[in-house]
Amino acid sequence: MLLIKRIIKNTSQSLCRIDRVQPVLSRKNSTLIGAFSPSQPKFHVQYHNFNILKDAMEHDTTLPSFMVGYKNGFLPRQDPLAKLPDRFYALEHLLQNMPIQLPNGEEGLLAKGQLGDAVKDLPQFDVSDINDQRLLSGDLYNYQRIDPTKPIVYSNLKLIRAFAGTPSEHGFILVHVAMVAHSGNLVKYTMETIEATQEKDRIKFNNAMKNLSDTMNLINQEMETMWERSNTDDYLKFRTFIMGSKNQPMFPNGVIYEGVSEKPLFYRGESGANDSMIPCMDNLLQITSKLPNNPLTEVLKDFRRYRPTNHKEFLDFVQRKAEEVNVRGFAIQVCKVNSLYLANMDQIRAFRHRHWNFTKEYIIKNTTHPVATGGSPIVTWLPNQLGTILEQMNKISHTIDYNKLTPENKILIDEIINKANAQERVLNREVKFLKQQFGPSQDRVVV
Ligand code: HEM
Repeated sequence: MLLIKRIIKNTSQSLCRIDRVQPVLSRKNSTLIGAFSPSQPKFHVQYHNFNILKDAMEHDTTLPSFMVGYKNGFLPRQDPLAKLPDRFYALEHLLQNMPIQLPNGEEGLLAKGQLGDAVKDLPQFDVSDINDQRLLSGDLYNYQRIDPTKPIVYSNLKLIRAFAGTPSEHGFILVHVAMVAHSGNLVKYTMETIEATQEKDRIKFNNAMKNLSDTMNLINQEMETMWERSNTDDYLKFRTFIMGSKNQPMFPNGVIYEGVSEKPLFYRGESGANDSMIPCMDNLLQITSKLPNNPLTEVLKDFRRYRPTNHKEFLDFVQRKAEEVNVRGFAIQVCKVNSLYLANMDQIRAFRHRHWNFTKEYIIKNTTHPVATGGSPIVTWLPNQLGTILEQMNKISHTIDYNKLTPENKILIDEIINKANAQERVLNREVKFLKQQFGPSQDRVVV
């Protein structure tokens, strides 16, 4: 459903009016509002603990799709519906014919400029009786297992919906899904780290921190495959379709959703910034509270509101609890653990460093468009967070008592710190240069 909203936004001029799909949208909109309100009481966050699903309860279609679980992590509890129910045949047909390039090689509606008219021909759908949450989700909810009995790994996935219909678009979305498939363990070791800190159990803490950095390492390795699975020259061909309407030059007056609001609305577009893995790490290691007090950080906080309620509550819980038990303080009490804490910071660094490289290669090299799909300024926003982690790593390195380190650990820590130092210098140079190139557009921050 969300796709339809996007198509309409993106096929129209700066101010667009929507009527034919309004029932679908208004239902979607009410779900969105629900998504920002507290989740159902039985899953309420308790102060000392958080209700994490042990079992994904795949057969229950009425619970929210996105609920944090040890098995599903930050992925939805059930696989997405690959095909809409028969009563939505017209919509399903339209979506299948939408991509620029269809699976049979022919041109789809987007290539022929016919999507807008096709949307106008859609019937009015009555969706008032729909409780199946799978019909009310979007974005990352876009993968199908080729063999349903096999796990969620890249080679076993295919896309359900596409805009461009190219292998690069397939890679772009499914690499992300394959990364999040590891997030069940991320949730597990996050909770274990918090518990171990609370119980002041050093052995449990060390194990949890080690397992956490191993899990992040797997996620980062998966991310590295983006280079080979999505061609850097193809990204702009589908990026247009995932742009939002907040701080987006192509929608200076926002979007009016008829029947929903008479006032134009402004939403951030699809972005990895809605993902929960890095915010979880930031919160656990207490990096979030170290972010500079500036408008760019406000944008980050705004992004963190754009996620399913249960994810938001979990991330808030991790942030509050990590501060309360003081994960960082416990980590740096003993030099050995300091290296494990640092190893985890290094995983956040590795993620954000690669991610900045993606942004330079997939986007900045190919366009001077000043903002990203989520509406953040393209050359300053990501460095705000990457710069913070690099700076924090360099700061923490000064607290290490090198005399207490084993020679092996000393080498490891030196490697991590030297790399972070060098990357901080390069980043500062790059941003200075890019800011000159992009000019005042980069100072325009809309929260
Ligand atoms: C070619 C691939 C990618 C490109 C070009 C890219 C680009 C971007 C850009 C430009 C932003 C800025 C926010 C905005 O949209 O306004 C962003 C944010 C973000 N993206 Fe990506 N992204 C890519 C893949 C991924 C993947 C696979 C993930 C997986 C989790 C991801 C996670 C994030 C996160 C966590 C943020 C927030 C940044 C932060 O906290 O520092 N991105 N991305």
